[in-house]
Amino acid sequence: MCGIFGIVTEQNQPLGKILVEAGQRLSYRGYDSIGCATIASDGRGTPAIDLRKDTGKIDEVNSRLNFEEMSGQRGIVQLRWATFGSPSQVNSQPHLDSDGDLVGAHNGNIVNNVSLREAFVKEGMTVRSSNDGESCVHAVERYYDQGCDMVESIRRAARTLQGDYAFVIGHQEGDTLHAIKQGSGLVVGIAEGATCVSSDLPSILPLTNKILRMYDGEIVTLWHDRVELRRVDDGTLIEREPEIFTEGMGAAEKGGYPHFMLKEIHEQPQVAAELIHWLDASPHVAPFLEALTSARRLYLVGCGTSYHACLVGAAYLSRLAGLGAVPVLAPQFTETMAHTLGPEDTIVFVSQSGETKDVLNALKAARRSEARILGVLNVIGATLMLASDHYLPLACGYEISVPATKTYLNQVVLFLYLADRLGRPGARIDWAQVPNLIAETLELTNEPARRVAEVLNPFDEMYYLGYGSTLGVALEGALKLKEITYAHCEGMLSSEFKHGPLSAVYDGYPVLFVTAPDDAAMMVNHVNEVACRGGRSIVVAGEDPLLRGNVMGEISESSMGESAHDYLLLPSAGHELTALLAVLPLQLISYHMSVARGIDPDFPRNLSKTLTVD
Ligand code: M6R
Repeated sequence: MCGIFGIVTEQNQPLGKILVEAGQRLSYRGYDSIGCATIASDGRGTPAIDLRKDTGKIDEVNSRLNFEEMSGQRGIVQLRWATFGSPSQVNSQPHLDSDGDLVGAHNGNIVNNVSLREAFVKEGMTVRSSNDGESCVHAVERYYDQGCDMVESIRRAARTLQGDYAFVIGHQEGDTLHAIKQGSGLVVGIAEGATCVSSDLPSILPLTNKILRMYDGEIVTLWHDRVELRRVDDGTLIEREPEIFTEGMGAAEKGGYPHFMLKEIHEQPQVAAELIHWLDASPHVAPFLEALTSARRLYLVGCGTSYHACLVGAAYLSRLAGLGAVPVLAPQFTETMAHTLGPEDTIVFVSQSGETKDVLNALKAARRSEARILGVLNVIGATLMLASDHYLPLACGYEISVPATKTYLNQVVLFLYLADRLGRPGARIDWAQVPNLIAETLELTNEPARRVAEVLNPFDEMYYLGYGSTLGVALEGALKLKEITYAHCEGMLSSEFKHGPLSAVYDGYPVLFVTAPDDAAMMVNHVNEVACRGGRSIVVAGEDPLLRGNVMGEISESSMGESAHDYLLLPSAGHELTALLAVLPLQLISYHMSVARGIDPDFPRNLSKTLTVD
C-alpha cells in the first residue's frame, strides 16, 4: 500500500534525513520503490525542485541516490506499492508536470488513468510514465496553466480523477504544499516551525503529536506555521481543531487498533471498494473472462485461505454464470489433474503472496501442457504474476498479519465480480452497495462475535458447517480459528455431518452453521440434527427466511431461529452477498478468542505469511 509524506518548513534547510526517516516509518505498509523531492524556497536554488527516485528498499536506494544530502523548504517522500504498472524508476513517485514546476505523489488508485493519459498527451503535456500518480500532477497542471491558483486547480482536477486516492503536490513558486483526500488515508501534523501531511500517523509522530484529521472531499494547504482546510466541492473553509495524539508508535502503525489483524479486518470495506473500482475500469478483465468462458475444463487452484476462496468462487461461477469450475488444492491438482490438461483448458491460480511453493509447483506442472494460466494475486511482481498469461490484482495493499483476512475477502469479491459479469444482466449485483454492506456487517456482528467467542473459548474442539456457497466460508472460518486460537475446529459440508461426526455431539457441544438464503431450508435440518441431540448450534445467517413465512416456510415447519441457540444476524442481502459477508463475523470470532487466550493473532506460532517450502 503506497505511503506519502510531505513537509513544509520556514526556510531552505537539510530535509533529506527527515524524508528518509518518514519513509522508514511508512515502510511497514510494504513498498517496491521510493522517491524524494525537495523544493527550494521561492524557486531559489539550482534546480528549484530536486527529484530522486528508484525501485528498491530505502537504505539501498538512499545509498545510491543520496537522499540525505537533499535540502529545501518543502519536501515530499513516497513509497510505492505497485498495483498496476511494473515497479520501475520511471513509474516511481513523486512525478513532475510537463515543465518541471509542479511535483506531487499519490496514494491509491486513479481508475481512469488510461483515458486521462491519452487526453494529457493530446493536450500537449509531457507524460513520462504509466503510473497513475503522474496523472494527478497533470490534472492539476491543466488548470494551473489556465491561470487558476493551486487550490482551485486541485478542486477542478478532482472532478476529473476517478477512484480512491490522496495526493500531495507543490509548485516551485510560493512556500506551500497542498494535499487532497478522496478515499485514501491522509492526516495533517502541526509541529513547531513546520507542518506535515501523510497517509498515516507513524511518519508524523516523531515530529509532532498535534494532529488534524481529514475527511474525504477535503483539501489542505500547508504553510510552515499554519494549515487551512477547505471543502473540495465548493471551496469553503472548514474550522476543525487539531487533536493531541497520546498513544505510542506501535498503536499508530496499527491505525489505533491493538493488532494488525483487526486493522486489516476493518480495512475490508475500503479495499473492496478499491478493487471494484479497479475491475470496473480495467482492460485486464475482458481477456480473463474470455479465458474462463472458452475453457473446456476450468480449475481454480490455491492453498489454505486462497483455496477456500476458490470454493466460494466455483459456487458463484456455477450459480450465476453456468460455468463448471473445479476448485482444487494445489498439491492435489499437481498429482491428479496436471497430467490431463490440454490447450483448451484454463487454470486460475489464486494466491495472496503469489509465491506459495505448492501453488508454483502446480503451475509448473500445468505449464507442461499448453493450458492457459491465469493468476489472482495481491503482491504485484510475484512469481505467479510473471508466470501467468493474464492476471488480476487483489489491490489490498500489504497484509501484515499472518491470518489472511482482507485478501480472502477480495478474492471472493473478485470471483463474484467475474461471475456477475458473465451472468444474466437482469440479476446483477448492486456493486455500489457492497462496501457499505461489508462495513455494516462488521459493525453489526462485532459484539455478537465477541459473545460467541466467549461461548467457544472453553472448548478445544468444535465444528463449523456450511452448505453450497457457504462451504468455503465455513472452512475458512474453521481455518482462521485453528490458526490463531490453537483450538481444533473442523470445517465441513453440513450434510456430511450426519454421516459420522454427529456422534461427537454431547450436551453443550458447539457446532457453528454458516448459511445463505437459498440453502436455509436444507440447513435447518442440519441445525436440528445437532440441536435435538443437545448440541449448541450457533447460526450465522441473514434474517431467518423461515420466520418470515416465505417459500422456505412451506418446505419446513421448523425455523432456523427456533433451532439455533445463538443466531448471529447478517444484514439482509441476496444469496451470493450473504456468502461474501458471512466470513466477517467468523474472522471476528477467531480474533476475539485468540486475544482472550492471550495469543498474538498477528503472529501465531509455527506459521509464516508466505510458505515457500514444499
Ligand atoms: O499466499 P497464499 O494465498 O498462496 O497463501 C496460502 C496459504 O498459506 C494461506 O492462505 C494461509 O492459509 C493463511 N495464513 C491463512 O490465514
